[in-house]
Amino acid sequence: MALAIRHDADLSALSTFRLPARARELIELTAPEQLADLPDSDLPVLILGGGSNTVFLDDWPGRILLNRIAGLHVERLDADHSLVHVGAGESWHQLVLRCMSQGLHGLENLVLIPGSVGAAPIQNIGAYGIELSDVLEAVTAWDWQRRETVALSTADCRLSYRDSRFKSSDHDRFLILSVCLRLSHHFEPKIGYDSLAAELGKRHLASPSPRQLAATVMRLRRHRLPDPARLPNAGSFFKNPVLPRELAEPLLEEFPRMPHWPMGDGRVKLAAGWMIERLGFRGYRIGDAGVYQHHALVLVNHGQATPGQLLDLVEHICKAVDDEYGIALEPEPCLTPGPLLIY
Ligand code: EPU
Repeated sequence: MALAIRHDADLSALSTFRLPARARELIELTAPEQLADLPDSDLPVLILGGGSNTVFLDDWPGRILLNRIAGLHVERLDADHSLVHVGAGESWHQLVLRCMSQGLHGLENLVLIPGSVGAAPIQNIGAYGIELSDVLEAVTAWDWQRRETVALSTADCRLSYRDSRFKSSDHDRFLILSVCLRLSHHFEPKIGYDSLAAELGKRHLASPSPRQLAATVMRLRRHRLPDPARLPNAGSFFKNPVLPRELAEPLLEEFPRMPHWPMGDGRVKLAAGWMIERLGFRGYRIGDAGVYQHHALVLVNHGQATPGQLLDLVEHICKAVDDEYGIALEPEPCLTPGPLLIY
């Protein structure tokens, strides 16, 4: 199908934080073959999926490729596992539901995460004790450097907590075409995450079915996190800081109530939401940029937030957290254009 190029395109509805921004060119890709038809250009290129992890701080001076590549194919591996090959432009949440309806397990805890499938490996999405790295088998991507399609194993993707080579060292190198997940025919619920265990306990679901587990995760998410369709946001705005044990221990002695999780590699992850809430930021606003009333790790756009208001809010939170805990918070979504030194 011929490629349509939109010029001076409005981006506000393409990012769930909904700051006003425009792009010089916007092109929607629905199939990998269309890459061959892309007109040559020297413009900088940005790939956009569901827009739930990209916050536009300004107009994008180049080309945006909207990744809408569809498709889902299940390949039975053996009695216990299947591989699920999914187009990068599919909705992540719909994928989770479709896999569950086909008796394929492993994604239940990741239900209701906004965004597209292709974005999942970029930031190694995770929730309630599961990360994409637990189920990812491979990624197929277009390599702009080698100008060919490449297959990357999970190890090649260098996934870590909310990070990957796609987000760091090879930031502009790949366009993810499809993702392959290894899912199980047998359901083994992962229910150790504190708030999930508590919610299941409240409902006397010691051994939940896949549907019960997914429904419980959805209830938790709906209760704690704002729906981007009603209150624009980009999910967690900061990563949880990960510190070597020797640096985490004195902090945990000083703040014994701070939630934390040992990472299994000698490092400890600390709850940034707790730190920010404790400093009194829940519900705090600068103009229309605010801290979500029910979860301090989430920043929201109350309607007409400007990039300046958002940056002021971010700087204010980062400074307060640094003053109190000696920790430099890192934003979790991609703030674009350009690298941003906040604090
Ligand atoms: N907490 C507070 N106050 C707050 C927010 C959190 O005290 O205002 C405490 C909670 O009570 C809990 C701890 O902090 O003890 C952790 O909170 P929560 O379980 O909500 O998770 P999180 O660490 O804030 C991470 C992910 C979320 C994911 C949840 C659940 C990151 C950056 N965020 O948030 O992912 O849904 O765990 O697994 O790791 C996202 O990436 O956009 C996202 C929403």
